Formats: sequence, C-alpha cells, structure tokens
Amino acid sequence: MTKAEGRVSFKRVAILISGSGSNMRALVESMVGDHPARPVLVASNDPAAAGLIWAAGQGIATAAIDHRPFGRDRAAFEDALLTPLLEATPHLICLAGFMRILTPDFIRSFDGRMLNIHPSLLPKYPGLHTHQRALDAGDAEAGCTVHEVTADLDAGPILGQTRVPIVAGDTSSSLAARVLAQEHRLYPATLRRFASGDRSRIDPA
Ligand code: GRF
Repeated sequence: MTKAEGRVSFKRVAILISGSGSNMRALVESMVGDHPARPVLVASNDPAAAGLIWAAGQGIATAAIDHRPFGRDRAAFEDALLTPLLEATPHLICLAGFMRILTPDFIRSFDGRMLNIHPSLLPKYPGLHTHQRALDAGDAEAGCTVHEVTADLDAGPILGQTRVPIVAGDTSSSLAARVLAQEHRLYPATLRRFASGDRSRIDPA
C-alpha cells in the first residue's frame, strides 16, 4: 500500500487458501488502483501451499496453520487460525479453494463478511467432485458461483455466477480448466462489487 493509499479507508481482505491459490492470485492482482479493498493476509491450512510463497513475494502477510495436528478438533484448528486472522483485522474474508469445513461458530463470527467461490452452478452440486457430477448428469453447461458463506455448506446467498458450456469429449479436468478460467474473472468482479457495499448479484457475460 502506498502512502497516498494509506489515507483512504480500504476494506481489508483476508484470503484463505489450501492449494495453488490461483483464485487468491486473481483477487490480489485485482485489488489495485480505485478498487475499494486491499489484501492484508493470505492464510492456509497447508504450510506447503504454493500460494503462500507467491503472496509473501507480493509483500502480503501470510500465515500457515497446519490442520493435521488438530485431528478432528475443528474448533481448536479454528482458534489457531483466528490468531493471525484477528491480528490482520479484516473487514472481509475470501475463501479461495480453502478445503476445510468451518464450524457454524467460526462462520457466525464473520457473518455477512465471508465469501466463497464454488466450481458449480449452485444450488447444483454443493460439495466435492462438481465437474464429474455435471458430466455424469449429462448437463449441457457448468460454471462457478461466488456466494456468502453461511452455516449451510455452499448454500449462502449467491452473489455472482458464470456459466460455461460442456462440450463433447469433456473430461472432468478439461471442464475444470474451463470453469477455473471463469472463476478468475468472476471472483474479482464479485469482490469488487461486494466491497463497495453492493450485495446485488453479478452475472458477467
Ligand atoms: C477452484 O476450482 C475452487 O473453486 C475450488 O478449488 C479450486 C481451487 O483452485 N474450491 P485455486 O487454489 O484457486 O487455484
């Protein structure tokens, strides 16, 4: 953040990842110029997540909280995650390929301030293996959805959605790649609108 930017009150955004973090990267790269938000933390439940190194290279604070030592104790893992999160004082939290289910208590503490991207046309196919499920169902299209996170898995209010065609010969990986390219457009567009205080739904062409 430059000195001039420091005088403006940007929305502070924490991003949670588990893997390569390509959506996180798209979000970070979008938060420049007149964007109403700035990234303040990238955290992962996997210390080896490639996205952590990239984020640190951008000068963003990072945190790695390995979930494995906590076993099935989700609340204890979340307590550990809360330490860097609260230190970063985020207004908004973006889940970007974050592969841990969060407890209702954790979600409630960020009520109306947490977004997620999901690789399906919700309410179709919450949960895992979305692309294979769309192919198995013989769907003509697939897509991605940004939604508010509520205690019900992948079921919060929809903030944005993009559709992609399913084409002959598609496999779950070819479809995933086509959807992911749209995720990288949809999530930044939705965050930008949401951070400016507009919770209306966006369906980019
Ligand atoms: C994306 O398809 C996201 O929707 C899903 O997991 C994938 C994560 O990709 N939940 P990346 O880590 O953002 O590259």
